[in-house]
Amino acid sequence: MNSPVPPPLGDMTPDEFRRHAHDTVEWIADYLERIRDYPVLSRVRPGEVRAATDTGPPLHPTEMETILRDFREDVLPGITHWNHPGFFAYFSISAAAPGILGEMLTAALDVNGMLWRTSPAATEMEEVSTSWLRELMGLPGTFHGHIQDTASTSTMVALAAAREATGLDVRAEGLSGRDLPALRLYCSEEAHSSVERAAITLGIGRSGTRRIAADGEFRLRPDLLAAAIEGDIRAGLRPFCVVATIGTTSTTSVDPVPEIAELCRRHGLWLHVDAAYAGAAAIVPELRHHFAGWEFADSIVVNPHKWLFVPIDCSVLLLRDPEAVRRAFTLTPEYLTTSEADAAINLMDYGPALGRRFRSLKLWMTLRYFARTGLEARIREHVRLAAGFRERVESSRGWRVAAPSPFSTVAFRYEPEGWEGNGLDSLNAEIMERVNRTGRVFLSHTRLHDRFTLRLAIGNIRTTESDVAGAWEILSQAALEARSGAPD
Ligand SMILES: Cc1ncc(COP(=O)(O)O)c(C=O)c1O
Repeated sequence: MNSPVPPPLGDMTPDEFRRHAHDTVEWIADYLERIRDYPVLSRVRPGEVRAATDTGPPLHPTEMETILRDFREDVLPGITHWNHPGFFAYFSISAAAPGILGEMLTAALDVNGMLWRTSPAATEMEEVSTSWLRELMGLPGTFHGHIQDTASTSTMVALAAAREATGLDVRAEGLSGRDLPALRLYCSEEAHSSVERAAITLGIGRSGTRRIAADGEFRLRPDLLAAAIEGDIRAGLRPFCVVATIGTTSTTSVDPVPEIAELCRRHGLWLHVDAAYAGAAAIVPELRHHFAGWEFADSIVVNPHKWLFVPIDCSVLLLRDPEAVRRAFTLTPEYLTTSEADAAINLMDYGPALGRRFRSLKLWMTLRYFARTGLEARIREHVRLAAGFRERVESSRGWRVAAPSPFSTVAFRYEPEGWEGNGLDSLNAEIMERVNRTGRVFLSHTRLHDRFTLRLAIGNIRTTESDVAGAWEILSQAALEARSGAPD
């Protein structure tokens, strides 16, 4: 029987809510259980979901059963299933059950943690959960964490603090119409585009961002960094920050952080470490060596929504001096002043946004549920699966690994004899398209040394050895077919 439409005023009745919530939880549990039955990459064409869902602004209420049915029929086909164990594209992420439960509670509580008093738990649990994560990753208590939506925002906030730390008082005076030295920011050519976007946002500009060449293993070259900084100082420019990456997006390479930190120390520059993807691996003792020197950073970003199974969005920004961020952003209109301002922090002071979701709940629940041992085991398993895949590539005729794999991502190419140059690029692109059309595996690519290169990233909590073996079979078959020009 269909439920009644909403009462004349107020929300859905508690009984109605209970019924739909139970049904929805059942649906979610089935969805996760049968996730392999869905095509990992959505098969809709552009505009299809819009056409199916845009029935015009609703003038009359719709029963919840109908809305949920339309969700299944019209919305779900337009979903690319990041939770699918065959999702190996980009950095594969997934939502584990404790975080899903956390998100449900967060939505129900609907708190805005802008001030301590607007939800003390939202403020204090952000401190608790980020300090647990810090400790699990082996970082000293001198770092203070808070949560942003994404690494892009975290990096932007860190760079704003770095800019403020120059003493140029950009906060008060702005950048325009003043005789300021031009600020210079440094990162490797392999750094994520979010670094340059932050520079654009902050008025440093693309030309203020120096992309330093990487070595043969895609790591920033400190000798070139030193030369760039020194050259810029001689030219009257103002170097202010270096972004080092632990786990670059293309290959997961690790910049030489100890050498970079020493350069930053020598020249008084802010060091920001982007460990958005790889940071979670610092929980695993035998992987900790990749993080040497990150304790010298002024700021570090790690995304629990990437490789720590927390539903997106959850990006942790760790700061040696959180006051630097507050100096950059604090601006308190009268209506937001509170009597406890001296005794408690207000999260609105930690970035451009006033309103804040209660994101720490899902992080707190995930860390408690899996705990150190559980997280360690899962990350270690992903690294093992990636090593197994890498061995298959290395030992298979015509296939070549294209970069070192310090974590759980493998960059590789198919290079059969008799093929070269652009022909090989097209062949690899064709293989990827064929693989992705199967609906069982989703791969993405990068360009290394200007060559089209396939990537397989393992990070999904539900991915097993047989999923990775299946991906290899599909790839081998696609390679045979693409090479012989077989029809799909
Ligand atoms: C190394 C690195 N940093 C930053 C980002 C940006 O992450 P977000 O989507 O959280 O902004 C990515 C995205 O994959 C990344 O790989």
